[in-house]
Formats: sequence, structure tokens, C-alpha cells
Amino acid sequence: MNGTRVKLDVALTIDSATVLSHTESAVAVIDVLRATSTVSKALHSKASSVFPVSGLEAAKEAAMTLAPALLCGERLGVRPEGFDLGNSPLEYGEDAVAGKKLVLATTNGTKALDRYSDARLLTAASLLNATAVAEYLLSTGRDMILVCAGQDGTFGAEDAICAGMMVERMIKEGVLMTDPAWMALTAYRACRHDLAGSIKKCDHAGYLIEEGFEQDVEYCSKADILNVVPVATVLEGRTAVVRA
Ligand code: MLT
Repeated sequence: MNGTRVKLDVALTIDSATVLSHTESAVAVIDVLRATSTVSKALHSKASSVFPVSGLEAAKEAAMTLAPALLCGERLGVRPEGFDLGNSPLEYGEDAVAGKKLVLATTNGTKALDRYSDARLLTAASLLNATAVAEYLLSTGRDMILVCAGQDGTFGAEDAICAGMMVERMIKEGVLMTDPAWMALTAYRACRHDLAGSIKKCDHAGYLIEEGFEQDVEYCSKADILNVVPVATVLEGRTAVVRA
């Protein structure tokens, strides 16, 4: 923990959190399109837990071990054959997931959750629950890293915009921003008057719209509609995300 003022860093790509040690910090993984939006929606719809997994085979194995559990995820944005649910947050209503364990494997978002599973404290944030997670992180009193999951190790603007929104909620408390945190804040302020229109201009949004997921892009652009904070813990010997 920082002895003086709390520091706030943004990793604009998955591996660029260099200023602070993530094992000593409170970390939020952000994958607006769509993994952390899906995690947030699932927990808001009363799923009991979400087990984030990197690979599809690992997901199948986890779902068998954790049975009964729903097998969920995507490759190239689409539900893999034999999976119960894809990665559209709109599929994760109470009727589908309430009271259930979910195993979720996505291309970037759950990989990022896996990558940071040894953080001192790990959460999942999206535009849907940005303020709730920002307030939770601040309440820990720890240094904070907002990790943008992006695409295959590269930058995704929608995640940086979400990080910037969270930074804005946090600077009111007088935390020390790193340069990437300040850049994310600047990006958010440039487009907050039209978040949905701005998110639509991002590369991955364009891909999802072409694949028929425009409704997902619109849904994932809604700020603060879910008052839920997904936090990582260990259940049945595996990393799981549950409601705080
Ligand atoms: C990912 O984890 O890469 C995304 O959530 C992909 C998607 O849009 O389903």
C-alpha cells in the first residue's frame, strides 16, 4: 500500500502496467466489447459465479469439473459449437443464468482476467458498471491499475474510454494519475457527450456490427446502468468472479 497519496495507472494495452506492481495493487480489467460487460450483466442477473478461462478446451474441462455449470464464450465473436451461451451480454438475463455457475472463455477479456489473477485485488469493469467499480477501488485505499484488455495485445479505444471515465470518478478524490491515466481521461472527456457514437467508431465495434451484434455495441455503451462490482476470489480451487 502507498504510504502517501494513492496512485492510479492505466495499462493502455494488456501488458503495459509498468509503473506499479499489480500484485500489490487493486486492478480492474476492462473489456467493454464485450467480456467484462458480459461478466457484469451475468452477476447482476444473479449468476452465482463466473469462472474466467483462457482457452476453449480449458473451459470445457472446467465446466465438467464444476458441473452443473454453463459453458460460455466466443471465438471471433461467435458462440463456439457445443457451448451453452455466447458472449453477448443480452443473453445473460435472469432466466438464463440466475443461481448458476458459468465458465466463460473469451479471446481477450477472460485472458486478461487470468493474466491478472495474482493481483492484490481483482475486479472486472465495463461502461455498464464503471462508477460502481471506481468507487469500490477507491474504497480499498490501494494503488490502482485499470487494465485495458484490447485486441490480441494491441490497443482498443473503447477500453481506454471506459478507463478514462473511471479515472474521472477517481480524481475527485485527489489520487495521483500516471501519464496513461491522464491520456485515458482526456480521451473520455473528448467523447463523453456521445459515448455510444464514439464506441461505434472503434475497430472492434465495427467488426461486431458487421457480424450482426449492433445491439450488443449499443448496450455495452450505456454508462452506469448496472450497480454491480465483480470481484475475483477462489472457489473450488479456481479463480472465480462473484459479486462484492
Ligand atoms: C474478447 O474477449 O476478446 C471479446 O469480449 C470478444 C467479443 O466481442 O466477444
